[in-house]
This record gives sequence, structure tokens and C-alpha cells, in this order.
Amino acid sequence: MDGDTQLSKFKMWIGGEWVESASGEYFESDNPFLGKPWALIPKGNAQDADRAIRAAHEALTKGPWGKMTATQRGALLRKLGDLIGPESKQLAEVEVRDNGKLFAEMSAQTAYMAQWYYYFGGLADKIEGSVIPIDKPDTFNYTRQEPIGVVVAIIPWNSPLLLTAWKLAPALAAGCTVVIKPSEFTSASTLEFMKLIEQAGFPPGVVNVVTGFGAEVGGPLVEHPLTNKVAFTGSDRTGAMIYQAAAKGMKRVTMELGGKSPNIVFDDAEIDNAVKGVISGIFAATGQTCIAGSRLLVQKSIHDQFVDKLVALAGTAKMGNPMNADTQVGPVTNPPQFRKILDYLDIAKGEGANPVLGGSKANRPECGDGWFVEPTIFTGVNNRMRIAQEEVFGPVLSVIPFEDEDQAIEIGNDVVFGLAAGVWTQNMRRAFKMAERLQAGTVWVNTYRAVSYLSPFGGYKKSGIGRESGQDMIREYLQTKSVWISLATEVPNPFVLR
Ligand code: NAI
Ligand code: MG
Repeated sequence: MDGDTQLSKFKMWIGGEWVESASGEYFESDNPFLGKPWALIPKGNAQDADRAIRAAHEALTKGPWGKMTATQRGALLRKLGDLIGPESKQLAEVEVRDNGKLFAEMSAQTAYMAQWYYYFGGLADKIEGSVIPIDKPDTFNYTRQEPIGVVVAIIPWNSPLLLTAWKLAPALAAGCTVVIKPSEFTSASTLEFMKLIEQAGFPPGVVNVVTGFGAEVGGPLVEHPLTNKVAFTGSDRTGAMIYQAAAKGMKRVTMELGGKSPNIVFDDAEIDNAVKGVISGIFAATGQTCIAGSRLLVQKSIHDQFVDKLVALAGTAKMGNPMNADTQVGPVTNPPQFRKILDYLDIAKGEGANPVLGGSKANRPECGDGWFVEPTIFTGVNNRMRIAQEEVFGPVLSVIPFEDEDQAIEIGNDVVFGLAAGVWTQNMRRAFKMAERLQAGTVWVNTYRAVSYLSPFGGYKKSGIGRESGQDMIREYLQTKSVWISLATEVPNPFVLR
């Protein structure tokens, strides 16, 4: 850090070197709590993208990486995990400054992310091909699981380091090399993290970071002929664009996109727990999460009572400096997102929704010049309204009443997304049946916002393609080769299929 007045200047990490952008240009990154710039990030372009992809390709095909055993690769990943622990607070601080996330959440998240490197480090040498009992005489057939190649990881601004870990850990375990493109709003933590990649001793070019804007550097990374796969998390709009661009080069993709997840509360739920679960689903991380439980579906018989309790508790949420341990709702990460949330508040009011809490920009003294939005709850929402259908990505909850299980399912599933869903009930049959009928990649019962390196995560419908985390998901970074070896003493009739 250069002190208060000067901006901290960062460098990119390409081919095992700290470098400036090809143009020598930088762009500013803001501190959302102060509402002003704090860092200078290299402004990459197509030339930088090309350099990084070539470094990754070279590391894959020529460097020591390709010759390392899976056990050695796994050991490097575990070493990286070990390095994260002591640095987790420092990484968290950088993220809080750049992103506005709460230090309380960030420090736990950076510490926890080491588990992805341990887990996939352990998995690296347990990936096995198979010997097929093939139906031809004197023939040996086996499969090899090989790395898919050069992976481009495109990361959004809401949880940069964790979402990077979800891609980087399995990709490296599989033997791939990686170019990371962090969001232009939050590049600093990823660049800081590369110090640990360097310290762990990954060979040059195995992991690279190119910073800059989506169209200027993200596009060229996706389109590069040496790119084999794109692993993306972000908006559905950008995801669709990248999917199309990847299709032209027949590149593999995994896509983790948005959501409009229902958090469904039945009248037999433990009400106080459900209130907390609904709050955690929409106000944690200022609602800027893909899994936000942004639609509260509440059974009619308890609607008024539940909303009263919810408003009472949400109304106590402390806003302010995200570094303070007692702050509960921090700023919005960037000005476009701030404007987008405020626009949605107007849209909802225009549609006739009733703001029973918040409904505006926050003007509390403890929020200073930061980009703060009041935690907002709208009642009187019906599922056809835009506020019920579109991802706001902010602290804005829509409350929708329902009669019974069938109607909860009908409304819950009636969105284009299918990332997650929550169910609050004490009835076991109901819990299992709801989990079965909800169209979502993750269903939480009597909890919300739980994720683990052990459990697959991803979307149904327009929420994505493929899964992240969990044992099987390493396959997203592998391709299968079938090898045939004839043990016959002579080649039979050459004019027929063997
Ligand atoms: P975005 O989806 O446009 O950006 C995500 C990443 O993609 C960034 O690194 C960006 O630089 C990159 N990118 C953008 N255009 C690209 C292109 N043509 N080719 C390659 N890479 C490209 O998200 P953005 O603009 O930051 O936020 C827009 C909205 O997306 C938010 O308002 C929010 O609603 C939603 N969002 C959803 C997230 C989720 O996890 N579901 C995460 C972040 C944003
Ligand atoms: Mg920033």
C-alpha cells in the first residue's frame, strides 16, 4: 500500500512474471465504502490475452508441468492450501477495500477456500482410466483421463477468490493450465493471490492473470484458438455471449449464472429460524450473490405474522464500514450495480409492489459517501412482475404468498432460472417432496447459503451448464482417450470395420 493519497499500483501475472499491460495503461478500481478509487490495475488488451494464453499453452505442452506426476501436482496444490491460511486475513482486507464485502464474511471465506486446494490436491492422483473388457479377440483397450488443456477462468466481482478456487483447484488437479480474468471491479485480490502461486512454486505459465475489461480482454481470451475451455461465473447475458463465442471454436464451457431463487416458508416451520434464514438469503453480502433467496414464498396463513417478524429483524441490520466486526450490511460493489438496484426499486414500485422496509438509497451517517442501499422488502408482489422474475443482485426481497405445496412449486419453478431454493418446514415428507420437485441445482431445507468443496454446485435451466465442487466435477476439466492395442499376429481383412 502506498499510503492514503497515492493509489496502490498492481501488476499482472503472466508466464511466471509480474508485468505491466502491453499498452502500459492502467485503470482505477474503487473502494465502495469510500466511493472513490484506491488502486490502479493494468488495462490489458488482446495482446496481453494472447501473451497469457501462449504462456499457458507453452506450460501445458513444453514446460515441467506436463511431465509432473499427478502426485506432484497434488502436492503443489496442498502447498498452496497451506500458504493461504496465514495470508487469509490480508487477502480478506484487500477484498474488503476493493469489493466492500464484510471483513467478517471475507476472512472466513478466504480461510475456507484453502479446502478446495486441499481437496482437489488430494484428488489429483486418484483420477483413473479403466481397462475395458473389449469384445474383440487379441485386443487390449483402455482409457486415459487427460487434461482438457488451456482453461480460461472468467470471474465476477461478488466473490472473486472463492469463485476462482472453484475453477482453479480442479483445473490444476486435472493437469490443465489456466488464465484467470478477474472482474474489472475487483482484480486486486486475485493479483495478490498470485504471490502465493509464485511462492508455492507452480512452474511459469501454469497460472496467469490478465486484468482489464470484458470486451477488451475477456473476449480475446475466449476466442483465442489455443483456448480449450472457458469456465465462467457471472451474468446470464454475458454467459450467453461467451457460450456463443466458445461454440465457434468448439470450446468446452462451464457456466454458473444468475438466479431468482425461492425461499419457501411453510406454516409448520420454526418461524424464528426461518426469519433468520430468509434474512441470510437476501441481505448477507448485500444481496450480491448468485444464490440470493430473492423471492420469499410464504404460506398465506402465516403471511402477516411472518412479514412483521422479518421486517422487525431486518430493520435492525447495522450498515456501515465493512471492516467493522459488527457491520451486517455493507455497500454495493460498484456504481453500475448501485444504479441498477435503485432502478429496480423504482420498477417494483411502478408495478405496484409495497415497500414495507427500505425502498431507497441509504442516507445513514455511518454510510458516508459509500454506495449503500437500504435493505428492502416488498410485499404485494406477484410472480409475473419484473421484480419477481429478474435478478436484481442487491438487498431487495419480494414477498409472494402461496396456498399449498402445489402452488409453492408452481410459483417457485416459474422463473427462467434454477440455481437454488430454500424450504422451511418441520414436516419430513414435505421436505423430501419439495426437494424432489423444485427445479434447482441446490435445495436447502431449514438452512440457506451453505456450500462446500465436497458438494456439487450449479444451475438448472438458465442458471448454468455443468457443476463445480465435489469429486465428479473434476471431469469438467478432463477428456477421455480410448487406446486400442492389437495383440494379434496378423492384420485380418483390411476392408472391414474391426
Ligand atoms: P458480467 O457477467 O458482465 O461480468 C462477469 C465477468 O465477465 C467479468 O470478469 C467481465 O469482465 C467478464 N466479461 C464481460 N463481458 C465479457 C465478454 N464479452 N467476454 C468475456 N468476458 C466478459 O457481470 P457484470 O457486468 O460485472 O455485472 C452485471 C450483472 O450481472 C450484475 O448486475 C448482476 O446482476 C449479475 N451478476 C451475476 C453474478 C452471479 O454470480 N450470478 C455475478 C456478477 C454479476
Ligand atoms: Mg473495486
